[in-house]
Amino acid sequence: MITRIQEIHRLQYGPAADLTVYFSPGRVNLIGEHIDYNGGYVFPAALSIGNFGAFSPRADRCVRLYSENFPGAGVVTLDLDRLDYRKADSWANYAKGVIRELQARRPFSHGFDAVVWGDLPQASGLSSSASIELLFATYLNDAFALGLSRPNLAVLCKKVENEYIGVNCGIMDQFVIANGKKDHALLLDCATLAFSAVPLDLKDHDIVIVNSKVKRGLVDSKYNERRAECDAALAILAKSVPVRALCELDKPTFVSAAAGLPDVLFRRAKHAVFENARTIGAAEQLNQGDLAAFGAAMNASHDSLRDDYEVSIPELDRLVELALEHGAIGARMTGAGFGGCTVNLVPKALVPAFSVGVAEGYYRSFGLLAEVYVAAPSDGTRKVA
Ligand code: GLA
Repeated sequence: MITRIQEIHRLQYGPAADLTVYFSPGRVNLIGEHIDYNGGYVFPAALSIGNFGAFSPRADRCVRLYSENFPGAGVVTLDLDRLDYRKADSWANYAKGVIRELQARRPFSHGFDAVVWGDLPQASGLSSSASIELLFATYLNDAFALGLSRPNLAVLCKKVENEYIGVNCGIMDQFVIANGKKDHALLLDCATLAFSAVPLDLKDHDIVIVNSKVKRGLVDSKYNERRAECDAALAILAKSVPVRALCELDKPTFVSAAAGLPDVLFRRAKHAVFENARTIGAAEQLNQGDLAAFGAAMNASHDSLRDDYEVSIPELDRLVELALEHGAIGARMTGAGFGGCTVNLVPKALVPAFSVGVAEGYYRSFGLLAEVYVAAPSDGTRKVA
């Protein structure tokens, strides 16, 4: 893909002396869902699939952006001093937001020509947008010697997503994409951003991602609704216990303080508190090599996301059922929900039969062709050529 993206860059912009290529991964979350914005622990991994970017500097203050994934959008041409959000600029808004945020610290001396090309399925819950944000942020941080650390780049990209793009996401996606480590998952405390890389010693098991091919339609409105419900539950709980984020509560404290919560708020807050405990436990179980317990925690996470947090959909529930019927020892939806993917822990020897069995069963139930990928946990965003 590196040679090919260099070639696309040359075809779009002509020969460039100073051409560099970066790769930015997608991510899959193993467990710890919908708790990054509640101050909880999450356990994601960066993937070997993602977005490549080829970049060359220019002498003037012009920026040209082209994505091989959105050829219809053509080359978006910008001025470094005029970077307002424009719907018509589609994917290029992610790059524009990052450029603008970085320039708020120190204006760039010149522009650049960029080509993006990725093998991450779009709108599938594997964080294509955060991947593109970090792709540009990492290149620009290097090209202009801005000296920002990887965690700082992640925080900056989250700010772009929240304020420029207008999606109220938490920190998980940007953080793991910036800081991922090959063959590891990151146990990240979203309250402090302290993290550790945990070796994914999966003993003859693979992490298998199944794409439901249901595009995440309602996700933005429902995501914001869940965030608001968590805030409402927190405000009620804070009247009786000193607490600033739901995941500060342990299970017994939550249970004894929760009597006054209306049913829906109780279930939302319960998911956050129990999922946080499950995630900390699951990382420990993995450390101890107890894969069966890790898989059981994944299953319990899915049940909670389906029944208490209500962010799953029948298609994802069916994929989880089929996964368990076809040999997975753990299966759950991953990401924001309302479409996208499931993540499954599958004995390596069963992966071929698993892939066929799940895809066939899913087609029979919904008439949709699921896609199956074996995940290879990889390093965070980096220069590759
Ligand atoms: C999306 C958001 C993340 C996180 C997940 C749910 O991916 O971008 O911040 O909240 O949903 O865990």
